[in-house]
Amino acid sequence: MSEMRKKVVYQIYPKSFKDSDGNGIGDLRGVIEKLPYLDKLGVDLLWMNPFFTSPQKDNGYDIANYTEIDPLFGTMEDFEELVEKAREKGMEIMLDMVLNHTSIEHEWFQKALAGDKKYQDYYILREPKPDGSLPTNWVSKFGGPAWAPFGDTGKYYLHLYDVSQADLNWHNPNVRKELYQVVNYWLDKGVAGLRFDVINVIGKDEELKDAADGIGKYLYTDRPIAHTFIHELNQETFGKGDREIMTVGEMSSTTVENGILYSDPKNQELSMIFSFHHLKVDYLNGEKWSHIPFDFMKLKYILDDWQDGMSKGNGWNALFWNNHDQPRANSRFGDPEHYPFETATMLAQTVHLLRGTPYVYQGEEIGMTNPDFMDMQDYVDVETLNAYKELSEQGVEHEEVMEIIKSKSRDTSRTPMQWSAEKNAGFTTGKPWIKPAENFHYINVEEELQKKEHSIFNYYQKLIALRKEYKVISEGSYLGILMDHPSVYAYIREYEGEELLVFNHFYKEPVVVEIPKAYQERQGQYLIGNGEERALGSTLTLGPYETVAYYFDKK
Ligand code: NOJ
Repeated sequence: MSEMRKKVVYQIYPKSFKDSDGNGIGDLRGVIEKLPYLDKLGVDLLWMNPFFTSPQKDNGYDIANYTEIDPLFGTMEDFEELVEKAREKGMEIMLDMVLNHTSIEHEWFQKALAGDKKYQDYYILREPKPDGSLPTNWVSKFGGPAWAPFGDTGKYYLHLYDVSQADLNWHNPNVRKELYQVVNYWLDKGVAGLRFDVINVIGKDEELKDAADGIGKYLYTDRPIAHTFIHELNQETFGKGDREIMTVGEMSSTTVENGILYSDPKNQELSMIFSFHHLKVDYLNGEKWSHIPFDFMKLKYILDDWQDGMSKGNGWNALFWNNHDQPRANSRFGDPEHYPFETATMLAQTVHLLRGTPYVYQGEEIGMTNPDFMDMQDYVDVETLNAYKELSEQGVEHEEVMEIIKSKSRDTSRTPMQWSAEKNAGFTTGKPWIKPAENFHYINVEEELQKKEHSIFNYYQKLIALRKEYKVISEGSYLGILMDHPSVYAYIREYEGEELLVFNHFYKEPVVVEIPKAYQERQGQYLIGNGEERALGSTLTLGPYETVAYYFDKK
């Protein structure tokens, strides 16, 4: 366990990372080409979003063949070479397993549609209600009803996501067996990490009912049976061999209590989980498609609850701000225009020094921002297109709709990785599948690597290296302090007498904080910060978006 706790994961969105053949879509050879860059950063695992055969209705989360590589991204030989070359540099590959649903183009669904009873039992098919209405009132997470007609059979199939993503019937032991074979197939190819897409919604009841809230989430999320299935998955696949495989479950709307159950090693489910409550603090009344400033106190209490709860219960968190489904955190929680370095490094340090495993999403290490597209033509994502339609139908003014979309669309983080100031940010020589953000002229890898000071990349490098060096970071306990402070999130980590005191200031106006008595007389070492190096007194003045950590050796 302890070696795993020193590791940092880097997330690659293959479609937007690096295009090696000029077709405008990133690919596996592009990733191979950039391994030296990733090695320089010092990360340990590379989580790659799905690159399996797919009609790409949901950018690869609609899989038509689990064990084939989509020609868009390359070949199996390319993948094998990637595993090998990454390993030569001390990095391992983490794959994305989408086991809750398949594309409706998957052979199983197609056979089911053609009338094959065996495969019909692979999916969740139901008759309409006696009055002819849909089997339940559940809504899809991408908008609209969660049911669609199953061919001309008169039945409906369940799709919690897009209509092209049919939910699998995990109650069928044949389905589970097939999925375990898929996981083992990739483990045999040498992958050392697995990310399980929306794995806490696999356990629907056998008898499906209308939801009292008209949405349905509570009827299929975190059901006890999900734990049973995940435990079995563990035992039949990654938990079986001698290699330590890092696993992370993406948990939709979960609780600390369930987070512990999923990740406490004694339960033999997963190594850790992603939870998302801290990224809903800029939702108006819980609604994502809104545009309001984030609630700092809420953010800090959520982070504190998860840190505290998971450590007490022996669970383990994945630590992150960004991914391919989230707007860029610097655009969301800081001021990347006036304080690009301070914002990016403060956010990074806040999570990198917490208890858990940090994830870096491509581009955050150079301060990439939301692209601020104001034209619907520039958006591609199915969820965004649906939201545009729904908001417009609700009568929201066009300008307001665009403001909301600009701040929340999943496309905001899917724009091409900014490698240089050259055409298309150096991502492709062809026409990119999605436009790059205009600021690539000055925010790009080439520029970043030349910086002598204020380099976000160097700061990430240091944070990643510190986790390997200091057990207080990788193993220490957690205690939130100054919890009433309106603009600073501070905490103490402790491990066998060593301590770390961390202050993160989330706003521009300078503030003065009181240093807890117990630390005033001890000689703390300024370990890392994005401001001026200084000793710790009875108070500390923090500048705009300043972050600082003091290290205290054993007493
Ligand atoms: C979560 C993935 O991260 C997201 O991109 C995808 O659309 C849904 N799961 C459905 O697979």
